Amino acid sequence: MIPKPGYSDYRCIPNQSFFLHILHPFPMYRSHLNNELRKEHLDTEVTLSGWVHRRRDHGGLIFIDLRDRYGLTQVVFDPEHNKNTHVVAEQLRSEYVITIKGKVRQRPDGQTNENHETGEIEVIVNEVTILNESKTPPFEIDQDKHVGEEHRLKYRYLDLRRDRMKSNILLRAEVTTFIRNYMVDNGFVEVETPMLVKGTPEGSREYLVPARLYHGNFYVLPQSPQQMKQLLMVAGFDKYFQIARCFRDEDQRGDRQPEFTQLDLEMSFVEQEDVMKLNEGLAIALAKKFMPSTPIQEEPFPVLSFHDSMNRYGSDKPDVRFDMELTDITELVKDCDFKVFSGAESVKALKIENYADKPRSYFETKLTDYAKDHGAKGLAYIMYMEDGPKAPILKFLGDDLVAKITEATGAKTGDVVFFAADEWSIACEVLGALRKRIAKEENRVPTDKVAFCWVNDFPMFEVSKETGAVGAMHHPFTRPKKGHEEMVLTDPMNALSNGYDLVMNGNEIGGGSIRIHERELQNNIFKALKVAPEDIESRFGHMLEAFEYGAPPHGGIAWGLDRLVMIFANEPNIREVIAFPKDQKAKDLMFGAPSPMPADQVAEAGVEIIKED
Ligand code: AMO
Ligand code: AMP
Repeated sequence: MIPKPGYSDYRCIPNQSFFLHILHPFPMYRSHLNNELRKEHLDTEVTLSGWVHRRRDHGGLIFIDLRDRYGLTQVVFDPEHNKNTHVVAEQLRSEYVITIKGKVRQRPDGQTNENHETGEIEVIVNEVTILNESKTPPFEIDQDKHVGEEHRLKYRYLDLRRDRMKSNILLRAEVTTFIRNYMVDNGFVEVETPMLVKGTPEGSREYLVPARLYHGNFYVLPQSPQQMKQLLMVAGFDKYFQIARCFRDEDQRGDRQPEFTQLDLEMSFVEQEDVMKLNEGLAIALAKKFMPSTPIQEEPFPVLSFHDSMNRYGSDKPDVRFDMELTDITELVKDCDFKVFSGAESVKALKIENYADKPRSYFETKLTDYAKDHGAKGLAYIMYMEDGPKAPILKFLGDDLVAKITEATGAKTGDVVFFAADEWSIACEVLGALRKRIAKEENRVPTDKVAFCWVNDFPMFEVSKETGAVGAMHHPFTRPKKGHEEMVLTDPMNALSNGYDLVMNGNEIGGGSIRIHERELQNNIFKALKVAPEDIESRFGHMLEAFEYGAPPHGGIAWGLDRLVMIFANEPNIREVIAFPKDQKAKDLMFGAPSPMPADQVAEAGVEIIKED
């Protein structure tokens, strides 16, 4: 079979050289790729192109490892064989781009390299052309040494030449292709949705684009295709997906970028279980393909309610690969003399086994500061030593209560129990953060399995810690749980939603919900969110109107593709799996964006600049 031009299999292109031959009987640049030549090619005349990866001058002989996307080939310049090529080879430096013509020969005994696919052969060069020179790169391309991130991002095109980044980007392409195939096989249609839209209430600050033709008006870059995909369901597309770019102007963290990619999908005539089932199938298929030697901890994936997840793990994205669960001791301590405990809405305890050999100062400085960073007012603890429990707070609690706490937490000699007393969510989150930190620090997170779980039954609404305003916990198109529809207006803070998050090894990799498809219910949500009636009409009138033209029941989810690839690539942050990411201050260090624009262009956009002091 003759492969179609344009066909490619991302990592290796099986018959690429074959089809190059067909197109060019005497190729100028290459007859083979740098991963291709084997013993069966001995004595073949070949043309290779690529970058000078490494150059070794052995007095007479000069060896070059020639690199392209596919691999390395050792090429040899021998003055005895060809004086002219050897003279050129003396000028070659790292990252020069060259083409060579030569003959494949076996490497001498003892010089074969099993680590390279082409390690049995080398090419003795008859002709060499320097296609382009290279300045000395600011960091070494051929080594996996630490390089400061600022440097890596400024010279991203060089960083992308290095093995780590190259394989991450190729892996990403494979993951995307796999997902596309899975979706198409399951009857989903890929639809592109616009980038210049109107406000999308997804909870983050939006990027604005001034409209040149309508001064004072703005397009907004979508935080997600949420409204468009729902409208596609109204339009009858039944099953939609998109590998969608999303924009959110929020503070940067390791797992966040101002622009990032979702696998976005939506389905009609479905309930929560239908969406979960399809996505669970995809998650399992992905894990089997991209983490083949890491078994999945539990199938079907466990489903935890938000409330249980917070109570047990102190997080709505629990890492369930390890236990270390929290214990609620609010009832036990409610009448004790220690006001910090008895006066709190909620008191949680976290037992860490075999931890009492740590110095007390560590708990009182590092861990207490960490707890405070997560909103705690303090961090009480009991250490279970050989001669009994020890802690500054023992005197406030008394022996009886300490015995009850010991029983409730199951603490034994050698263990430490930490306490957080606060509002329920803060008490949970503080110990949840501590649980994660200590498990990581103490190497107690098993890495030989991958654990997925679903979290559902989220509250519909939450109160913002910063502003005190009531907001949608997910987004305002999320449907209330069956039976909770009325509560949206009568008892909003206790209304639960029909939403669900997919969690993988403690990372939220996806979130979605069954949606509202009726105008009245949608209107009630906006009312509960205290959106003024005129704003409802101007911001969401198009959605409300669409719901009046036969909107089917529907629901969906969006996965964070960057986070997923980050886990598969075993990388610590999503910048490592994005070709051209922004830095932690949302800057593009290579392009130098954001940047000032020429005054006439700014004026044309109808924008006036406020100069900062
Ligand atoms: P949500 O806001 O939960 O839902 O986003 C879905 C998933 O996208 C990923 N994600 C991010 N990844 C990188 N950088 C970011 N700044 C970032 N923000 C979110 C997370 C998250 O789980 N429209 C809804 C989906 C739906 O209801 O169908 C939405 O966008 O992995
Ligand atoms: P204090 O009486 O404030 O000195 O606190 C006694 C101990 O309780 C110290 O170890 C504090 O870190 C701890 N502590 C104070 N407030 C809290 C709280 N809200 N939750 C848990 N521990 C606390």
